[in-house]
Amino acid sequence: MTLSRRGEVDPFIVMDVMQAANQREAEGHRVIHMEVGQPGTPAPSLVRDEAAHALTTDKLGYAEALGLPALRTRIARHYGEAYGAEISPEQVVVTSGSSGGFQLAFLAAFDAGARIALAMPAYPAYRNILKALDLTMVPIRTGAAAGYQMTAQALDRAARETKLDGVLIASPANPTGAMISPEEIEAINDVARRHSLTLISDEIYHRLTYGTVPEATALATNREAIVINSFSKYYSMTGWRIGWMIVPEPMVRSIERLAQNLFISVPTLSQIAAIKAFNATAELERNFTVYMANREILMAGLPASGFRRLAPSDGAFYIYADVSDLTDDSEALCKRILAEANIAVTPGTDFDPKQGRSTLRFSFAGPTDHMAEAIDRLKKLQLVHA
Ligand SMILES: Cc1ncc(COP(=O)(O)O)c(C=O)c1O
Repeated sequence: MTLSRRGEVDPFIVMDVMQAANQREAEGHRVIHMEVGQPGTPAPSLVRDEAAHALTTDKLGYAEALGLPALRTRIARHYGEAYGAEISPEQVVVTSGSSGGFQLAFLAAFDAGARIALAMPAYPAYRNILKALDLTMVPIRTGAAAGYQMTAQALDRAARETKLDGVLIASPANPTGAMISPEEIEAINDVARRHSLTLISDEIYHRLTYGTVPEATALATNREAIVINSFSKYYSMTGWRIGWMIVPEPMVRSIERLAQNLFISVPTLSQIAAIKAFNATAELERNFTVYMANREILMAGLPASGFRRLAPSDGAFYIYADVSDLTDDSEALCKRILAEANIAVTPGTDFDPKQGRSTLRFSFAGPTDHMAEAIDRLKKLQLVHA
C-alpha cells in the first residue's frame, strides 16, 4: 500500500488539546474550554422548529447541487440588507460549511501548482486544503504591528518578488480576531487586480465584530472576488454543516459541475432550516452580547494575568497572545495551563507552525462566568516573565 504525499497534511492541534481536556474532565477535573472555536449555543429556535417541521412534511431528498433556490434567493437578499450590495441568486452557491466552499473555490479558480498568498498565522485548514489539492501556500508575515493581517503593501511586495495566482484574506481572522479596514480591503483588491490575482475572502466571522473596525465585504470593491461565508459562527449552526459562497457568474457552471460530482448536494434538512436563520436576529444578537461581555473580561483580565501582548480582537471570538516573554514552547505552556489551571487553550503552532511557538489563542465563545473564573485561575498560575 502507498500513501499519497498530498494526504500528509498537519492534524488540527486544537482537536488534540480538546481530547486532553476531555480526558482531564473524565478524571473529575472541572475544565474551562477556551480551545475550540464554536458557539456554546445551539441553532436559533426558529431554525430548530423549521427543521422539526420539515422532518415530518418533506421527503428530504437530494437538493440542487448549487443549493435550494429559496435559500439562494434569501442569501442574495441578505447582501442587499447587510451591505447594500446587489447580488443575483445565480451567484450564490450553498456549500457544506465554508469548508466545502474552500474546496470548490480552490478547484474552480486554480490549477495544480498555483500559488496563493495567505497572511500568517491563519486558520490551519487553509494551508492543509491547499496542500491536499496540490496548491502552494505563500505565507505572508506582517507581524504584530499590522495585527498579523494581510496588507496591500505586503501583497504587492510578494507579487513582485514571487509568482502568485491568488490571495486569500479573512476579516475578522482566526486566530487573531484582527480585521482589515474597508480602505485596506479596497487597496488589497487594487493590488490583486494589478497583478491578476484571484481574491478569495473568508467572511465567516462577519456580524461578530466589536466596533473597532467597520465590517466590509470584499464584494463592495471587487465584483470578481469569491466570498466565502457560513452559518457556523454568528448563526450558531456548526454541526448543521452549511455555508455559502458568492462567486462571479462566469464561475458558476464550473462550480456546479464540481459540486455535483464531489458532494451531489448539501443536506436538504439544513438548507430548509437555514432560511429561517435570517429571521433569528433577536436571538443571535443575544448570543453576541455574551461574546461582547466575555471579550471585555478577557481584554482587561489577561494582561493582569501575565498575557501582556494581545493582538487587536476586533471580531470573531478569539484573543491571540504573544507569549514570547513567557516561553518559546507554546505547546508546553498550554499543557501546563491545562494541568495546573484546568483551562484548555490552543497553542499558536496550530496556526503558524514556524512562529506559533511563542503565541496562544484563547477562544471566548463559552459562557461569561467561565471567562471570569478563567482569569482567576490564570492569575493564580503566577506566570514568570523573561
Ligand atoms: C476562519 C475560518 N474559516 C472557516 C472555518 C470553517 O467553518 P465551517 O466549515 O464550519 O463553515 C472556520 C472554523 O473554525 C474558521 O475559523
